[in-house]
Amino acid sequence: MTNFEILASLECKILHNTGSFTAFALDILAIGITNQRESTLIWDKNTSEALVNAIIWLDNRTTSTVEDLLETIPNNARNINYLRPLCGLPLSPYFSGVKLRWLRDNVATVKRAMDAGDAMFGTIDTWLMYNLTGGVNGGVHKTDVTNASRTMLMNIETLQWDGNLLKFFGLPRSILPEICSSAEHFGVIASGSLKGIPITADLGDQQAALVGQQCLSKGQAKATYGTGCFLLYNTGPSIVHSQHGLLTTVGYQLGRKATPYYALEGSVSIAGAAFNWLRDNIGLIQNTGQIETMASMVDNSLDVYFVPAFNGLYAPYWNQDARGVLCGLSEETTSEHIVRATLEAVCFQVRDILDSMHKDCKIPLAKLMVDGGMTVNNLFLQLQSDLVGIHVLRAKIAETTALGAAMAAYKTIAPQYNMEGPLSKSDERDVVKPKINSTERNLRYQKWKMAIERSLNWETSSLVQGERESFDGV
Ligand SMILES: *[C@@H]1O[C@H](CO)[C@@H](O)[C@H](O)[C@H]1NC(C)=O
Ligand SMILES: *[C@@H]1O[C@H](CO)[C@@H](O)[C@H](O)[C@H]1NC(C)=O
Ligand SMILES: *[C@@H]1O[C@H](CO)[C@@H](O)[C@H](O)[C@H]1NC(C)=O
Ligand SMILES: *[C@@H]1O[C@H](CO)[C@@H](O)[C@H](O)[C@H]1NC(C)=O
Ligand SMILES: *[C@@H]1O[C@H](CO)[C@@H](O)[C@H](O)[C@H]1NC(C)=O
Repeated sequence: MTNFEILASLECKILHNTGSFTAFALDILAIGITNQRESTLIWDKNTSEALVNAIIWLDNRTTSTVEDLLETIPNNARNINYLRPLCGLPLSPYFSGVKLRWLRDNVATVKRAMDAGDAMFGTIDTWLMYNLTGGVNGGVHKTDVTNASRTMLMNIETLQWDGNLLKFFGLPRSILPEICSSAEHFGVIASGSLKGIPITADLGDQQAALVGQQCLSKGQAKATYGTGCFLLYNTGPSIVHSQHGLLTTVGYQLGRKATPYYALEGSVSIAGAAFNWLRDNIGLIQNTGQIETMASMVDNSLDVYFVPAFNGLYAPYWNQDARGVLCGLSEETTSEHIVRATLEAVCFQVRDILDSMHKDCKIPLAKLMVDGGMTVNNLFLQLQSDLVGIHVLRAKIAETTALGAAMAAYKTIAPQYNMEGPLSKSDERDVVKPKINSTERNLRYQKWKMAIERSLNWETSSLVQGERESFDGV
């Protein structure tokens, strides 16, 4: 099969997903799983019953656990980057290790089962795989390196669970799944209409999108624009420890013997969400479908800059006390200018992260692969290309995550398969090239930085700068 055929069959399966699977099961060669990362489940080994509701990735009840763990760091250092050399991640409420520790501290049945060796932990992929391959009756307890790399419990170099990390979090090894590559034979579906079909790939959603976007070489990057924006930058077989607050993560390892590829990950927390805010809180637009038309009615943002730092700023600024600012308003400013400035805000935030990635790994970014809801907006892609100064390529398929999982699944059963082949008969992605010159680009980026300056430390502006915690402050 070629990528094009995989894509075609994937679309066919998605279309028919609503009806009975039975008729199509015969056509299915293998299954790949992809899921949201970091969400944490824990269940009873003997009954396969969940011991407690799952904690999803963005649940922040674990903030106090991070505080408690910071206290345990030697020399009273309270350094959130203390574990970074081991696992590539800063201490944060999002990662599964912290969620597991929270569960152990707060749910008596979880603690009891962990101590008795009766508990099994998994991210969603692990649970699905366990359940589909038979549960208590022989179900496999496995995960892949990309999921495991977001637990804070895996050593980023050995790609195995790390005794020191387990000790730090106070968690028993017995709860952990076996770590596998992202593309290998995981197990076989135990029952139902898909009975007998092998599961041959498992990848985190962002990592699957990296594969689906064919960012399979060092220096290639993809951005997925939703309410937030996720960027992954392939750093090849080398581990790059970020000096700019980005995360080091496993990109993929396609086969047990294959070389693991690493990635730097950064995200923009407010991308599409800024438009929801314009709609729901300000009433400046009625629906997000209007954005492109409105922004196109003006030639530029008339020097208006909008920093949507509603919950503080993350990479590369790491300023929790930043708040949103809208600056450069004049008597001529209209709603259209503000809508356009909001589009540009997403582009500038992406540039901030790409610049950090570039500084960390010194590999120039040739082009940016994009997907996600906002990428239907042509003006937005033009602005993104203009403001970063690179080619922006839009995938023809929206479902790059599912495609990546399907490609990895097929790679396992057909090792000769070329994943870098064309994605469609004509293989044409939409390519958007910069239309402004570098003088203008730099001028506008400097203005953005000025707007950022004005947003920093708003929440606590009476405090002294040096008293604040920073992700990069080590
Ligand atoms: C679970 O099964 C193990 C044997 O596999 C047994 O020793 C243990 O008592 C069981 N736990 C419960 C709560 O049933
Ligand atoms: C978690 O997030 C919510 C919503 O943003 C916020 O109201 C709450 O204070 C946060 N909780 C903690 C413990 O940080
Ligand atoms: C898988 O999960 C479903 C839903 O909870 C459950 O009904 C089913 O029995 C599980 N299968 C196995 C094999 O445990
Ligand atoms: C974990 O695996 C699932 C599918 O098995 C995948 O979607 C998900 O992206 C992986 N998580 C990470 C962090 O890579
Ligand atoms: C760059 O573009 C600006 C705005 O269009 C123009 O005024 C300027 O002359 C250009 N500079 C160069 C070096 O081409």
